[in-house]
Amino acid sequence: MVQVDPALTDEEFLRLFEKGVHAQWGSDQIDWGALEGLSVVDKLSLGHVLTPVYLGEQTAMLGVSAVLPMILTGGQPEAALYLSSMGLDEARHFKNLHHLYRVMKVDPVPSRRLPEMWRYHARLLHKHDPVQWVFGILISDLFAKTFYGGFAARFPDTVVGRLSRRTLQDEARHQAFSDRYLSGVLPTMDADGKRELLVLRDDLFRIMEKLGERLRGAMENLSWSPDTFLAELWEDTERWAIRLGLVSAASSSPLTKESDIL
Ligand SMILES: [Fe+2]
Ligand SMILES: [Fe+2]
Repeated sequence: MVQVDPALTDEEFLRLFEKGVHAQWGSDQIDWGALEGLSVVDKLSLGHVLTPVYLGEQTAMLGVSAVLPMILTGGQPEAALYLSSMGLDEARHFKNLHHLYRVMKVDPVPSRRLPEMWRYHARLLHKHDPVQWVFGILISDLFAKTFYGGFAARFPDTVVGRLSRRTLQDEARHQAFSDRYLSGVLPTMDADGKRELLVLRDDLFRIMEKLGERLRGAMENLSWSPDTFLAELWEDTERWAIRLGLVSAASSSPLTKESDIL
């Protein structure tokens, strides 16, 4: 139920919202002409590797706009305020990548050659529960973080590195939101609810493994192995799952076992 005059007492979400408001930035803060240091092969490969990230930014826009009404009508106006700022972040990321393709004069991979990208998108968007949504958004933020971190490390003084570093600051705030939201709600969830989250995680990782195979050539052109990428992302996700109390620290298997669920 939406209240006309809610109390707005959750200081942590309110603080994150203020941070989100003050940290807004525009495309004029990026030097789009910084293309030296990017060879033709680099640009073509970046165009391919960026493709799922590019769609992912639109998936994030859809995710935020789907979960926001659930959270606002669920009586959490402070979290809904924050999500509104996050929607603008994801819109900016999408618009920036749109511009980056034009600046580099390359194209994304044709959709039909990356069907797993759409499977990932569909798997995230079929959820109707806010906790599943926020957990899916967290995994997608970690996915984006691993990509942008890799771009920033490989092309630090180019438009790609500068844009990636700036975007990573937004993604860090998104993770802080997921942390706050999920650590509030997970202790009240039963084993079935937690199991569903781990099923979502495993499904997304299986899809990403196939996606990595499709992008292997382009990634290797950037001296990046999909296996290293996925191992890094898995480790990061696992750290979060342990931190949120979803799995025990003793569990290190990539596949969820019944005994791992707390
Ligand atoms: Fe994003
Ligand atoms: Fe994000």
